[in-house]
Amino acid sequence: SRNIIIDTDPGQDDAVAILLALASPELNVLGITAVAGNVPLDLTQKNARIVCELAGKPDTLVFAGCDAPMSRPLVTAEHVHGKTGLDGPQMADPTMPLQEQHAVDWIIETLRAAPANSVTLCPLGPLTNIGTALERAPEIKEAIAEIVLMGGGFFEGGNITPAAEFNIYVDPEAADIVFKSGLPITVMPLDMTHKALTTAPRVQAFRDMGTEVGRMTAEWTDFFERFDKEKYGSEGAPLHDPTVIAYLIRPELFTGRHINVEIETKSELTLGMTVADWWRVTDREPNCTFMGDIDADGFFALLAERLATLG
Ligand code: BDR
Ligand code: CA
Repeated sequence: SRNIIIDTDPGQDDAVAILLALASPELNVLGITAVAGNVPLDLTQKNARIVCELAGKPDTLVFAGCDAPMSRPLVTAEHVHGKTGLDGPQMADPTMPLQEQHAVDWIIETLRAAPANSVTLCPLGPLTNIGTALERAPEIKEAIAEIVLMGGGFFEGGNITPAAEFNIYVDPEAADIVFKSGLPITVMPLDMTHKALTTAPRVQAFRDMGTEVGRMTAEWTDFFERFDKEKYGSEGAPLHDPTVIAYLIRPELFTGRHINVEIETKSELTLGMTVADWWRVTDREPNCTFMGDIDADGFFALLAERLATLG
C-alpha cells in the first residue's frame, strides 16, 4: 500500500478525508500533521485526534506543526467551520495522545529515513508545515513520490477573497515554495470540488449507514452545508478535502491538465491567487496537474462504501 502523510487543519471536510484514508487498505497513513488554518492549531491537532478515535484508529500518529503562516498573521475560517472547526455533532475530547515532536521535525526525520519516491504528501490546509520542511531540508524531496493537495482555483474565483482560495491565501509564501519545488504535484482546486456537492440523498447515504461514523459525517456535512445553502442557495456544499484521498484510490474519477500554476505573493488585491495557465498561453513550464472535473457520483459512492467499513 502507498505511504502517505496527511497535513491538515480539520475542518469538517478534512475530517471526512481522514476517515476515508483510514478506511482505505490501499493507503498506509504514516502520520497526520496538524497545521493552523480553519481554526488555530490547538483545535486542529485536537480535531485530528477526535477523528482518528472516531475511526477506531487511536494508534495513528498525530503531530502538531506550525501555529502561524511562514511570514503573515493567521487568517481562520470559523464563519464556515464554526468555533471548534468541527461544529455540528457533540464531541467528547480525545483521549489518544498527541505526539511530542513538532510536525515539521517529524516530517523531515521521516522523509530523510524513507527510500526514494516512497511517500506521498496530502496537504489539506495551508501549506505552512510542508513549505517550512522543504525550505529547511530540501533533501527530503528525494523521498517524496508526489504531492496531492487541495487548494486554489481558476475560472470561478475564490472563496476567501474574489481572487483566492482559503488554503493558498492563508500562506501564499509556503504555497509558492511547494509549487516551485519541482516535485510532481496534483491539485484539487475549488472549481472542481464545486462539481461534487453534498446533495440530500448523498448525505442520507451517510446517515443510513447506521453507524457512529455515518451519523457524525452526516452531522458535519449538515453543519458545513448551511454556509453554502444560506449564502448561495446551492443544494449542498463541496466536500473539498476528501477529493485528495479519493484521487489516490480512484484516479480515474478525475480529469485535469498538466499546466503551469504560479502563486501571487505580492498583490494586495489578488494575494494567494493561483494563476493557472489552463490554456497554455505562456511558455512557462508546467509544474502541476490541475484537476478540472470529477465523477461526482463515483466520488460519493466511494465515500459511502469506505466509510461504511468503519465502526
Ligand atoms: C479549503 O479550505 C478549508 O476551509 C477547507 O477545509 C478546504 O481545505 C477550501 O477552500
Ligand atoms: Ca482543510
